[in-house]
Amino acid sequence: MGAVGTNAIRLEGAEKLCGRTKFIDDYTFEDCLYGVTLRAAIPYGRVKRISLDPNFPWDECTVVTAKDIPGKNFIAAIENDQPALVEENVLHPMQALLLVAHPSRQKAYEALGRIEVEYEELEPVLTIEDSLALKAVLREPDNVFKDVRIDKGDITSGFAAADVVVEGEYRLPHQEQAYIEPNGMAAWLEKDGALIAAGSMQCPYYVHKALLHVLGLPAEKVRVIQAATGGAFGGKEDYPSMLAAHAALLAWKSKRPVKVIYDRLEDMASTTKRHPALIRHRTGVTRDGRLSAQDIEVLFDGGAYSTMSPVVLTRGAIHASGAYACPNVRIRAKAVATNSPPNGAFRGFGVPQTMFAAELHMDRIAEALRMDPLELRRRNVLKEGSSTATGQVLRRSVGACDVLEACAKKGRYAKKVKECAAWNRKAKNATWRGAGLALAYHGGGFTGGGEDFYASRAGVALEADGAIRVLSASTEMGQGASTVFAQIAADALGVPFGWVSVQTPDTAKVPNSGPTVASRTTMIVGRLVERAARRLKAELEEASGRIPKTRPLWLKAARKFLAGRGRREIISQYERPPGIHWDDKACRGDAYGAFAYAAALVELEVDKTTYEVRVRKVVTAHEIGRAVHPLFAEGQIIGGIAQGLGYALCENAVYKRGVMQNPHFTDYIIPTALDVPPMEVLILEKPYDYGAFGSKGLGELPMDVPAPAAAAALRQATGKWFFDLPILPEKICKALHEDHI
Ligand code: MOS
Repeated sequence: MGAVGTNAIRLEGAEKLCGRTKFIDDYTFEDCLYGVTLRAAIPYGRVKRISLDPNFPWDECTVVTAKDIPGKNFIAAIENDQPALVEENVLHPMQALLLVAHPSRQKAYEALGRIEVEYEELEPVLTIEDSLALKAVLREPDNVFKDVRIDKGDITSGFAAADVVVEGEYRLPHQEQAYIEPNGMAAWLEKDGALIAAGSMQCPYYVHKALLHVLGLPAEKVRVIQAATGGAFGGKEDYPSMLAAHAALLAWKSKRPVKVIYDRLEDMASTTKRHPALIRHRTGVTRDGRLSAQDIEVLFDGGAYSTMSPVVLTRGAIHASGAYACPNVRIRAKAVATNSPPNGAFRGFGVPQTMFAAELHMDRIAEALRMDPLELRRRNVLKEGSSTATGQVLRRSVGACDVLEACAKKGRYAKKVKECAAWNRKAKNATWRGAGLALAYHGGGFTGGGEDFYASRAGVALEADGAIRVLSASTEMGQGASTVFAQIAADALGVPFGWVSVQTPDTAKVPNSGPTVASRTTMIVGRLVERAARRLKAELEEASGRIPKTRPLWLKAARKFLAGRGRREIISQYERPPGIHWDDKACRGDAYGAFAYAAALVELEVDKTTYEVRVRKVVTAHEIGRAVHPLFAEGQIIGGIAQGLGYALCENAVYKRGVMQNPHFTDYIIPTALDVPPMEVLILEKPYDYGAFGSKGLGELPMDVPAPAAAAALRQATGKWFFDLPILPEKICKALHEDHI
């Protein structure tokens, strides 16, 4: 009996349950300093002078400014436009100007209060519209970080063939990842001059690369170790590089270990959020409900520096037409600069924004045609042989129809809509009810040629003592990656799950498997682990016949196999599946190895007095190729749905001149256990030939469906459309009372 497909016990679960797991703030170092950050107090302008209060004991502190940087003053990313510390120009109000370290954390914060900064302030650019209007040029020449154009067929003839044209505009807000553990990093120097950084992160090799540049050190002199990571959701994709650079600069100057740990306020205010977006749709459709033309404009607020925006935008744009086959599509997408902290990766990576618009727009089209929204989706849904907006022809493992039908059936969609309508006719009920449906697809792995470019590596090692260890840089952050890798390696090798352990990512010990992002860990990196383990199995079999089933025989066979060698390490490298072609310039071709699919039915009610929304139930179907660990998969889906409902109904990041006004869980409201409705989760499997054991990407997909389904349900409940998130009670109240003003 294999491990894949079973609910194997979580490798690090016992440690976490018993409170023995060490997160970065639990690490203790002798002679440790605490690092803190002085941030700009203006959204846009220039630093004229920084003065330190002469009555403060600065000799007890280590102070680092841009002038102290031994290497280059940028945080390596797609572009290297973001400085580690401000030299002169300030582009957002959370930008780091100066770092202070002190043996006492309290004293370090006190020091920040003894620094005075004089600025020359400029009028900031705070909205997408002002950025496009070039109210100020924050980035030469036109404030645009990335421009994506996708063309399929010919929209002019598509509109000519349409009976009805439906237009819509949709607005999406920031969203905070809200991981339990705030960002934190420690750095110290070894005796040989090597610099080590350890902390909470998704992508050890991103941090490694950033440190090489900032410190001007060769690769072998920098080592990055992942500490236990208490959640990330994309929020620890690029910012840890900044944090590590700060900790490393302080450690390098003070020659002592330094910890920089953000509290919740600093973390929420300073680190990345989901990109706010403005999305416009103009769609041609025939009377019988067939899409004939989709003209889509996507605008993302990138914040002050490029960071992940180019790739977030590209992914969002590619998915912007929804899980439908329309012959004529034009997508124009831009990510633009504003004077707010850079927006970045968050579960879904641009798709929750564009999918909200695409799906709610389908409901508007259905209404314009007086057609049932489920029926409209059926008539256009992607099938085997369909082509997407980039012209990718879907050959196998296409579960769009399957999830749509399974969700509608399990949730008794038609009956629910009727029941809600009947409920709403009874004036004495204290609530209005509604049911809404949404469908989504989500590409697994990097977009286009990304996987080729990264040529990720991962593998397994047979150690001298007979231990089997998975070697990868993919991080465990609560999602279950370690356990899933152990399941994959165990089955590929033909040994019990309990014999496999997983190396904690450490750039001195594991190869570069690429970042832990893009729903790629099980599908792409898991496949590398699978291939390496199969090779090890073949070698063992060649040396000693069948793989032994008992531990003593295994140890004997391993010793014999390793005779004369300390250990055997096998690393596989990514290979592009056959028949995949991508043209990056034209944004055409096979954007992803495979898509996974999800549908959700949201039932909710609105209190007629307070306008509070209570989600009564969610039924969802996800087609993910293969569930390597069904319970983790279900957990990912339930968590993603909850996070998506938060995005739709309560999470409200308020910004004033680029500064988040509610950077704490008192005022930034996320769903708690009490807000999460009962859920029924169906997992469907149409194996993908090139994912580990048939798996496709799952991590981000659940985030794509709740918001449009909730907005559709609110349409039925209230009779109002809500085209911008979050749909707070105040917004519902206002919409319902507009009629009377
Ligand atoms: Mo992820 S949102 O691709 O870190």
